Amino acid sequence: MKVLGIETSCDETGVAVYDTARAGADGLLAHAVYSQIDLHAQYGGVVPELASRDHVRKLLPLIRQTLAEAGLDIRDLDGVAYTAGPGLVGALLVGAGVARSLAWALEVPAVAVHHMEGHLLAPLIENDPPEPPFVALLVSGGHTQLVAVDAIGRYRLLGETLDDAAGEAFDKTAKLMGLPYPGGPQLARLAEAGTPGRYKFARPMTDRPGLDFSFSGLKTQVLLAWRDSDQSDQTKADIARGFEDAVVETLAIKCQRALDAAGCDTLIVAGGVGANKRLRQRLHEMTERRIGGRVCFPRLELCTDNGAMIAFAGALRLEAGQHEDAQVKVTPRWDM
Ligand code: KG4
Ligand code: ZN
Repeated sequence: MKVLGIETSCDETGVAVYDTARAGADGLLAHAVYSQIDLHAQYGGVVPELASRDHVRKLLPLIRQTLAEAGLDIRDLDGVAYTAGPGLVGALLVGAGVARSLAWALEVPAVAVHHMEGHLLAPLIENDPPEPPFVALLVSGGHTQLVAVDAIGRYRLLGETLDDAAGEAFDKTAKLMGLPYPGGPQLARLAEAGTPGRYKFARPMTDRPGLDFSFSGLKTQVLLAWRDSDQSDQTKADIARGFEDAVVETLAIKCQRALDAAGCDTLIVAGGVGANKRLRQRLHEMTERRIGGRVCFPRLELCTDNGAMIAFAGALRLEAGQHEDAQVKVTPRWDM
């Protein structure tokens, strides 16, 4: 089954084709992402109306480009998958409208995909993919969740953030130190030049049992440290390092607890913050210490928003016989 995947939930237009006749990474025939970062950078964050308009402009050319790269004619498609939520309603409607119309015209089924399920399954688009049961750490700009995956499609929420998501904390902390949008990756780059240990911030909620997170207090700690500092370039890097270490250590402690609680040794990590080098390194160290322990990440370009994860998640659902009637419906707020 060759499935077209369309992702337009926020500020990335993602398109891909996944072929279930092949497995793992080989099934991904082509994928392309167009990022609207430059468009939104001047406003310091995503402007929803502009995001929708840009998806309208970019989506069809990107579909044409992806099909050409895959060496396919549009009539070769057996199904269409699209992100139906959570996300910005106008942006979601662009993808949903195009996906449903294409499916109707081609007389193939269309399936609505949950954006976070897409992220969660992205580590499986690799060769030698992990098999459930495993624990998933979902760390994006909008979510921070620990999920027990008993089987594909059978998810149990173990813990989540009570306030800011990890990516949101990265972005807000970067902003308060004057870094341009999107701040997360920039803050991580800056932290590489930082002195470990000069700034030590709390590891929130690790001093009590449980698998929930809270990152908003950490942001406030950074704000106070930044205000009281000389604000030199070195200090900025040192604070960035202190912040990154606090987030990474907090995530690692909770992941370890989640593996213990679920009686699992395989951890998968997905979502934009999964691209963070120090987090990847730290979780490798943590899982290597466990007998049979393993951690799996998507390749870097599949950590952040993309069409490949939607094509893949949709292909699994379509193969299981799931699809919906021809109606353009999105769910901006949607529990997985
Ligand atoms: O999954 P994603 O592309 O979009 C959402 O669904 O939210 O995640 C974007 C988030 C942003 O908050 C961004 O700052 C963060 O992922 N991010 C990073 C890194 N790369 C992206 N955070 C820390 N270190 C990185 N290298
Ligand atoms: Zn995402």
